[in-house]
Amino acid sequence: MLQFSKVGPESYAGDLLVYLVRQPGKGSSRCANGMVDGVIRRVHALGDFFGKEGEHLLFYPAEGMPGIPSAKRILVVGLGKEEPNRELFRKAGGTIASLAMKSKVQELLLVLPDLACDMVEMTEGVSEGLVLGAYRFKKYKTKNDPDRSGEMLKQAALYTSDSKGLGRALKLAEIGSQAACEARDMANEPASHWTPVHFSEYGRQLAAAHGMTCTVLDQARLKKLGLGGILAVNQGSACPPEMVILEYAVKPSAPTLLLVGKGLTFDSGGISLKPSAGMEEMKYDMCGGAAVLCAMQAIAQAKLKGLNVVAIVPATENLPGPAALKPGDVITQYGGKTVEVVNTDAEGRLILADALAYGIKKYKPDMVIDVATLTGAVIIGLGHHRTGLLSNNDDLCERLLAAGERSGEPLWRLPLDAEYTKQLKSEIADLKNVGKKDGGTITAAAFLKEFVGETPWAHLDIAGTAWDFTEKSYIPKGPSGIAVRTLFDFIRNWKG
Ligand code: BES
Ligand code: ZN
Ligand code: ZN
Repeated sequence: MLQFSKVGPESYAGDLLVYLVRQPGKGSSRCANGMVDGVIRRVHALGDFFGKEGEHLLFYPAEGMPGIPSAKRILVVGLGKEEPNRELFRKAGGTIASLAMKSKVQELLLVLPDLACDMVEMTEGVSEGLVLGAYRFKKYKTKNDPDRSGEMLKQAALYTSDSKGLGRALKLAEIGSQAACEARDMANEPASHWTPVHFSEYGRQLAAAHGMTCTVLDQARLKKLGLGGILAVNQGSACPPEMVILEYAVKPSAPTLLLVGKGLTFDSGGISLKPSAGMEEMKYDMCGGAAVLCAMQAIAQAKLKGLNVVAIVPATENLPGPAALKPGDVITQYGGKTVEVVNTDAEGRLILADALAYGIKKYKPDMVIDVATLTGAVIIGLGHHRTGLLSNNDDLCERLLAAGERSGEPLWRLPLDAEYTKQLKSEIADLKNVGKKDGGTITAAAFLKEFVGETPWAHLDIAGTAWDFTEKSYIPKGPSGIAVRTLFDFIRNWKG
């Protein structure tokens, strides 16, 4: 969708020519084109446009006049007064994408402004914003629905007089953002159209396309290996569970990162049934699984070299069928720990515990990151702006916090002292799956911690950010594709 253009704004005769301008302290905003600059000055004098962040000006230049660009439309988007950074450019990219689509424009030329800032950051930011902001999920809208007919943005070209060294930045931004859009697609699918087997199919396709290894552990294999958590959660469902494993190998000497993503394709709560209001949102309970598979897609497409990466997605539904797991049942997780299931709605930790313990035993990773829509409590604590981060390792946290910041997907670390684990003591088994209500995000992580041993590990609770994420120009309603770009960035910037 993205490329650098050799055609400059003067010779561009396409649908939409876009300029970005900063808001100066005094006087009017400036831009590279004399005619456009003149318009900005006039409109500024009228008090209609100042170049504030998110502000825009759309106009239609007269045809065939000397000195006037031959583009059909000209859009000027404000960057505001603050020091521009990647997030600001990302938001500008999102604004451009949505305005372009409003005008039913399918291609555009964006002139990169000449600002005293890092051109790589600018290129990556606007590129990400354009791809993420152009996302729409229209699959289930029929032809007669007006929302269906709106055009999608197909091509965006960037123009700068010197694009040397920026090609890779553009490519990586596009790869990461398209992978995030792919994760949004998976999440938008109704639960009956995105079942555990869809995760396996996707994993196999990715492996075939990019030379990765895909292994799918089916129900029989899970039984043989003793992954009692995922099997127990699956008992009430008519779809068998799937454990999808993707391996991206660079070289034996590189460290190995294990990613684990919660792939709960529908969470009714099981016998501890959830209230019906809002239950439809529980089709999104697979966003962690989507995030790690799509991060793998991005890593493989970008041919990143720093880390060997293994991704595991334990995938199942949580339904109250006749054979469903009952509150009070005791199960045996992979590795032998027994768990008293006090609440069948705390199912995510049961499937993750198996995947973490199995992945660590089998692949001996140097570090582990899991991503899960794990607790409603994280929404109470952090709202919809920051993902909860809980970990046994400070270095891993620092790297993840930095990756989240760079990606516009901020995280916030919560404590995980040994005291919290006391809440998980069971009278009859090694552990129970829920503590008291208080500190629910932490006790959930404390449960997972019992299955990672000494391996450096970080847990991302994305229940508040996987959908209804902070409103921004490049974040649509519904699933956000959270964590795909953070993981991609974490791996891109890995230095031992
Ligand atoms: N999938 C939910 C967590 C969730 C809740 C995600 C709301 C997004 C929005 C998880 O399986 C769950 O039900 N957790 C329970 C745990 C409780 C029973 C200890 C919760 O958070 O209420
Ligand atoms: Zn649940
Ligand atoms: Zn759940």
